[in-house]
Amino acid sequence: MTTRRLVLTRSAAVVGAASTGLLLPQIARAQSGKVRVGFMLPYTGTYAQLGVAIENGVRMAIDEKGGKLGGREIEWFKVDDESEPAKGVENANRLVQRDKVDVIIGTVHSGVQMGIQKVARESGVLSIIPNAGVHAATRALCAPNVFRTSFTNSQPTLALGKPMFDRGVKKAVWITHKYAAGDEAFEGFRESFTKAGGTVVKELGLPFPQVEFQALLTEIASIKPDAVACFFAGAAAPKFIRDYAAAGLKGKIPLYGSGFLTEGVIEAAGPAAEGIVTTMHYSDSLDIPRNKQFRLAYAKMFRLQPDVYAVQGYDAGQLLVQGLAAVKGDLGNKQAISKAMESAVIDSPRGKWTMSKSHNPVQDMYLRVVEKGENKVIGVAAKALADSGAGCKMGA
Ligand code: PHB
Repeated sequence: MTTRRLVLTRSAAVVGAASTGLLLPQIARAQSGKVRVGFMLPYTGTYAQLGVAIENGVRMAIDEKGGKLGGREIEWFKVDDESEPAKGVENANRLVQRDKVDVIIGTVHSGVQMGIQKVARESGVLSIIPNAGVHAATRALCAPNVFRTSFTNSQPTLALGKPMFDRGVKKAVWITHKYAAGDEAFEGFRESFTKAGGTVVKELGLPFPQVEFQALLTEIASIKPDAVACFFAGAAAPKFIRDYAAAGLKGKIPLYGSGFLTEGVIEAAGPAAEGIVTTMHYSDSLDIPRNKQFRLAYAKMFRLQPDVYAVQGYDAGQLLVQGLAAVKGDLGNKQAISKAMESAVIDSPRGKWTMSKSHNPVQDMYLRVVEKGENKVIGVAAKALADSGAGCKMGA
């Protein structure tokens, strides 16, 4: 945890440094010929650690390709979005209108993403989503200039219902932070679990970012379901895992989740995390050379263990490298950039993946269990899973 805090402090210093660049006259900017890349990520609050992992991943992917984009140097900008939806549009506009970025990489929180999506659609700025799974971004509100390197909120949970049912779970309680991410994760869970033959006996929730779980855990104890499935992420996840065990539910009512529950937090959750089964498009223990190489290089560069967020950031960096290489850094050629990104094959630590028509990863979902402090792969829960992209009328 100390190292993480150190990294966060360093990030804060970079925010300050970047803002001094904002004082440069417009003309000097134009002549500098640099690609202006803006990070809009949470650097404080529940999802702060996720923002840092994403930024690390992006920087590492670009560093590995010589530190430039399409042959041009990079000028970086940063905004801490605080996972605060009410400030989403304003923060995105800070990057687009004030900093004149060529590309926004962000964000983590689905509610904040809706602000970025509005600004991206109105301004046409290239937008790469390295986490937030809000359906609309690659469904009804999809856009030629918006690409996601992570997932839709229902993707991991669409793969969760059947393995749970197959493991003997007939009646489940769902619990989540109540906002788009949790509600859409529930859509995937309900669909897959009921289709397999299971029944969701109760849906529980609390507002983000509250972490007072006690009353809800008491309710779960009185319902006595066969299992609990959930969506919690960031700093809320280890708190939920520990509170679940402290309430005496661990070992009695098995805990399942979309894999964010056990990403980057197993150490913080401690022994209470052992045995939790999740589905996710990545796993620490994924036994492919690309993952091993990635994990070693990341640990060496940042003195941290990577997680799914670092992977999604890394793939955002890889996507940007490919897009700008295709036009040799000519940012004016937006159509060719979009085309290159649409047809990109991303050689990811999670395994190779491609873009769906609506610009969301088509990817495998792994079934994992926490064992000795690590997410261990115990199966493939879904092969080449694509989001429906319902309502996306790209190019129509
Ligand atoms: C989201 O708000 O879309 C979100 C946040 C954190 C996650 C996953 C999804 O781990």
